Amino acid sequence: MSHDERQRWNDRYLRAPEPREPSAFLRSLAGRLPTTGRALELAGGPGHDACWLARRGLDVTLVDISDVALERAGALAQAEGLRLQFARLDLEVDPLPAGPFDLVVCLNYLWRPLFAALPGVLAPGGLFVFAQPTRSNLQRHPHPSARFLLEDGELPALLQGLQSLSLTEGWTDEGRHEARILAQRPGNGIRPAGAPTPQ
Ligand SMILES: C[S@@+](CC[C@H](N)C(=O)[O-])C[C@H]1O[C@@H](n2cnc3c(N)ncnc32)[C@H](O)[C@@H]1O
Repeated sequence: MSHDERQRWNDRYLRAPEPREPSAFLRSLAGRLPTTGRALELAGGPGHDACWLARRGLDVTLVDISDVALERAGALAQAEGLRLQFARLDLEVDPLPAGPFDLVVCLNYLWRPLFAALPGVLAPGGLFVFAQPTRSNLQRHPHPSARFLLEDGELPALLQGLQSLSLTEGWTDEGRHEARILAQRPGNGIRPAGAPTPQ
C-alpha cells in the first residue's frame, strides 16, 4: 500500500495551493496545550499545524508519508526560523518515533490501530488531540470518502488507556461533521489539564 499512498499524497500536494492556516480546532485548545516539551504530529502534511505548535515553544516532530509534504513543511519552518524534526513514515507499518511526548496531535488522518500505540509514546499527563470527519459528513461533502471516515459515535470506543477531557461530535463552524477529542494519559497523580487546583 505504502508506495501508492505516498505517490497519491505527493501528487496531491504538488497540485495543492500553499500554505494552509493552522487548524481552528487546534487553535481553540491553545489555553489547554503545553508550550514546553516535546510534541508529535502524526500525518501532519505540509506543516501548518506543526509550525503553529513550534511557534508556541514546543519541540515538534512531524511525521508523514509524503516527501512533498515534508519538504513543504521544512520550507515553511525555515521561512519562520523554526526548527522541526521530520520523519517520513508509513504509519500503517512503521513504529511511532520514541517518546515520551507531552502532546500528540493527529488531525484528518485515521488509522485505527494507532490508538493502541498512544499510551506508549505519551508522557504521564501528556495530551492527545484528534479530529476526524464522521460518516454524516457525506451528507454535505463527497470527500473524504467513506473508507476514511469515522462511524458516527465511534470515537469514544477507539480511545485506549487515555482519559477523555472533552469530546464533541457534530457540524463544525467550518461546515464539516467531525468528531473531536482532547484526551490525556493519566499518571503519577497528574491532574487533568484544566482541572481546578485542590484547596
Ligand atoms: C487529509 S491530510 C491531513 C494533513 C494534516 N493533518 C491536516 O489536517 O491538514 C492526510 C495526511 O496523511 C498523510 N498520510 C496518508 N497515509 C499515511 C500513512 N500511511 N502514514 C503517514 N502519513 C500518511 C498524507 O500524506 C497527508 O499529509
